[in-house]
Amino acid sequence: MLVSLMPDSPPSFTLVDVPGAVPLLGHLREYKTRPVDQLWTWWRQHGDALRFRLGLKTRYLFSHPHLAEAVLKDPDQFVKVYDPRRPSGLALVLGNGLITASGDVWRRHRRIIQPIFHRPRIATMVDQMAQVGEQWMAGWPAEEGPSVDIAAEMRQLTLGVISHTMFSTSMGHHINRMIHALQVSSQYAIDSDNNPFFLPRWIPTPGTRAFRSAMRSMDELIAVLLASRRQSGEQHDDLLHALLHARDEETRDGLTDQELRDEILTFYAAGHSTTANALSWTWYLLATHADAKARFHEEVDRVLEGRTPSAEDLEHLPYTRAVFEESLRLYPTVPLVQRTVATPTTVGGVFLPQGARVLISLYNLHRHPDFWPHPEQFLPERWLGSDRSHSHYTYRPFGAGPRACVGSHFASVEGLLLLALIGRRYDLRLAQERVELQFMVTLRPKGGLRMTRQPRITPPVSAAK
Ligand code: HEM
Repeated sequence: MLVSLMPDSPPSFTLVDVPGAVPLLGHLREYKTRPVDQLWTWWRQHGDALRFRLGLKTRYLFSHPHLAEAVLKDPDQFVKVYDPRRPSGLALVLGNGLITASGDVWRRHRRIIQPIFHRPRIATMVDQMAQVGEQWMAGWPAEEGPSVDIAAEMRQLTLGVISHTMFSTSMGHHINRMIHALQVSSQYAIDSDNNPFFLPRWIPTPGTRAFRSAMRSMDELIAVLLASRRQSGEQHDDLLHALLHARDEETRDGLTDQELRDEILTFYAAGHSTTANALSWTWYLLATHADAKARFHEEVDRVLEGRTPSAEDLEHLPYTRAVFEESLRLYPTVPLVQRTVATPTTVGGVFLPQGARVLISLYNLHRHPDFWPHPEQFLPERWLGSDRSHSHYTYRPFGAGPRACVGSHFASVEGLLLLALIGRRYDLRLAQERVELQFMVTLRPKGGLRMTRQPRITPPVSAAK
């Protein structure tokens, strides 16, 4: 439920400089240790439109839906930070993939890829996702054992889902190599982007060498996967098949091998830790809200009657869906979205020079007290009934505008399905005292999330179904 909708005329904002910048470093020290919390604190202290410094680089922080809308709906004025001649940040790893590409290259890729993620196709993947989930849980204990890191479990599980839906295989032992290489390279890329004192890449530091080795490892693996698919000539109903056969509706061109490499890595990078962390936060919230957990278990038991969830079942789990949506509100796994200003412009009365970097904090938007009653509380009920609204940029876990998440439906289906599938069989209980935020490409529980898995007694599968 939203407190109020937007007034007719857009509000005007006063840009506030965050105090406390020190020579050279600016606000780098506070920002680096806990970026998401720090941006939240600055926002609560100083307002919706702020300016701060990371080293000598100026950043703008927007935390109001009007400002978010103005930036996100215009991908030509507010561009992704990527220059193909001088790649930086995640583009170092993902090249010209959909997340990092800009301009005409992005438009072409989006035209080719968007149809792959249409709802009917995702619906056909539900059984495959469920099968991966069931297989994963077959390794879970029959009795409550010692605690495990549920965040790591969710990461492996969602990697299994993306591997199966993309390659029709679990990728066996390759998967650990891939996940490690992706983590090492992405972290290096992000650190190098946010730290003005980072040494150039041509200096062979241990970090640079690890980065290069990780990149080589991923490139080799993808080349092998592509070659073996082409050689086998087999037909598979998976995302790789869809990617290999996708054509630009305007030119009828497909993706080149380099473009395929970039997109495969992009799906891997974007498609597992986001959903995994969304699930981890949901388990954490359920474990710390007994009433919500009881209601969630009741719904799952009643609707599924003990069986593996199907695409149709997902339509009958409104409370479980509300739990997932509320979890993405409080802990959006992509908490920050960045853009660069292409030409000088003014937004909500705030002047932005060319080249300025703007951060939209989805984390702050989702907790804005002008739009959310009890913004810091976990209240899945707010998503039930007719007054639920995703409009007006107050709730944007999947981004907004033309560059919104292409995999949002995939992620929503996967998240709901895995919640129901696991919740049907297990009661997850928190086994640690404190949970802190960590922003490492996505928003995750720092150091993992220790939980115990208590098997549940579920009703027998109904003979009628
Ligand atoms: C809970 C899970 C997920 C969340 C919270 C999430 C969130 C987001 C957000 C906020 C953006 C916009 C970033 C920006 O504007 O700069 C985005 C973009 C994107 N996401 Fe997701 N995502 C999720 C899952 C997925 C999955 C499962 C896939 C693919 C299998 C995926 C693929 C992408 C791609 C390719 C883009 C770039 C789209 C473009 O720029 O055209 N995401 N995601």
